[in-house]
Amino acid sequence: MKQDLISDIKGHLKDARRVVCLTGAGVSAESGVPTFRGVGGLWNGHKATELATPEAFERDPKLVWEFYDFRRRNLFDIKPNPAHYALAKFAGESKKEFTLITQNVDGLHALAGSLNVLELHGNIWRVKCLECGTISDNREVPVTILPYCECGGLLRPDIVWFGEALPEGVFASAFQVASQAEVILVVGTSGIVEPAASLARLTKGSGGITVEINPEATPLSSMMDLVVNEKAGEFLPTIM
Ligand SMILES: NC(=O)c1ccc[n+]([C@@H]2O[C@H](COP(=O)([O-])OP(=O)(O)OC[C@H]3O[C@@H](n4cnc5c(N)ncnc54)[C@H](O)[C@@H]3O)[C@@H](O)[C@H]2O)c1
Ligand SMILES: [Zn+2]
Repeated sequence: MKQDLISDIKGHLKDARRVVCLTGAGVSAESGVPTFRGVGGLWNGHKATELATPEAFERDPKLVWEFYDFRRRNLFDIKPNPAHYALAKFAGESKKEFTLITQNVDGLHALAGSLNVLELHGNIWRVKCLECGTISDNREVPVTILPYCECGGLLRPDIVWFGEALPEGVFASAFQVASQAEVILVVGTSGIVEPAASLARLTKGSGGITVEINPEATPLSSMMDLVVNEKAGEFLPTIM
């Protein structure tokens, strides 16, 4: 059964010219990064969901930066896993139009060698100036609290917070490639956070094949053409 599924997916990938992969927190789980539900709880008595907002940053930027410093410390030594490497290798070797879209902010796809990743929710290793809007890399651990731009403006994490819109260009590119893809792989996302569901629906709507890779069933599973209940780091290297 599993062997059939593997050759089925391999066949679809072989035939396709345009392939998209959307990853969520689950693709980094085997690197030791907790998924959203894994993090779930509190940091120093604060709910993570209440710190990751523009209002919280306006009210208390020091507190929000302390929270991000904590998250950056936890991510600092973490390495990509076989799932990240399989995707980077596929992009480099398959000669297909391949686009990797991620909801993750951990930067592990780039660390594994993936280029031009569409990061829907930003990146924890970048900062953005509140005054001039300049975006730059910042790998300081611990980070200076509070960090300032050369222009004197306060720097914030370049992350899409709750209640904020996705970066426009990234969002538009993701929708375009998903609507043109002949295969979309949806890996390690619970599908609750938009636009995961919309992207898969776009591919399906234009006749593409949708494949989900996730050890658990999700709200997306019922609309998928093929569902693989396996861990990303174990399964992706076998098909890519
Ligand atoms: N690594 C990160 O950067 C990180 C971590 C946590 C949360 N977030 C943010 O929180 C939001 C969470 O939404 P989400 O849907 O990405 O994650 P989620 O936590 O809601 O869901 C994670 C999914 O991954 C699956 N999963 C667990 N282990 C897996 C494995 N080894 N292989 C494949 N799948 C596995 C789970 O079954 C679950 O469906 C995102 O917007 C993201 O920006 C990011
Ligand atoms: Zn500035």
